[in-house]
Amino acid sequence: MAEEGQIKLFKKALVIFYSRSGNTRFVAEELANRLSADLAPLRDKKSRKGIWGYFWGGFDSLMQHKTQLEDYNIELNNYDLIFIGCPNWAANIPPAIRTFLNQKYWGNKKIVFFCTQESMGAERVFNNLRGLVKGAEIVNEKYFNKVKENKDAAREQIKSWLAGLDLGL
Ligand SMILES: Cc1cc2nc3c(=O)[nH]c(=O)nc-3n(C[C@H](O)[C@H](O)[C@H](O)COP(=O)(O)O)c2cc1C
Repeated sequence: MAEEGQIKLFKKALVIFYSRSGNTRFVAEELANRLSADLAPLRDKKSRKGIWGYFWGGFDSLMQHKTQLEDYNIELNNYDLIFIGCPNWAANIPPAIRTFLNQKYWGNKKIVFFCTQESMGAERVFNNLRGLVKGAEIVNEKYFNKVKENKDAAREQIKSWLAGLDLGL
């Protein structure tokens, strides 16, 4: 039995995300839960912890560097709709997401992008993301500010966002 506010997808959805400090993970888990979707975290082999992790993370993002990912098992063809989420790093894409997007063929895939941030730059993040999924259909994009500082507000935003999306139900 579906919980209140939970959306039953008859198509199969996947939520792929990278998260350094938990904000994007929070949104990804909420999405997967509400959509009964599979969840696929990406992990960067390079440590992004601490102040140096922050510094080099911002630098690598700005320089559009790729990285090495921990092994993952993601078969995009098994899904009708693919959510891809990342934090905004210096108004750019974290290397883990850039790397992953470069490793896959995106033709004819249906994608929803989401991004978490402190306060500004998401539009540039989305512009950059779009450029890495040539041939895909971008169904929607949504950013969330200061997620863990106000989880209830984030939950509400996610709920109303999903309710307003045409997910082909
Ligand atoms: C290297 C780095 C650069 C960031 N640059 C921005 C920025 O340009 N604009 C912004 O609003 N937030 C910025 N942030 C904050 C993160 O986008 C925000 O805290 C995000 O929700 C973190 O997601 P996560 O917890 O999933 O890692 C930056 C964070 C890091 C680590």
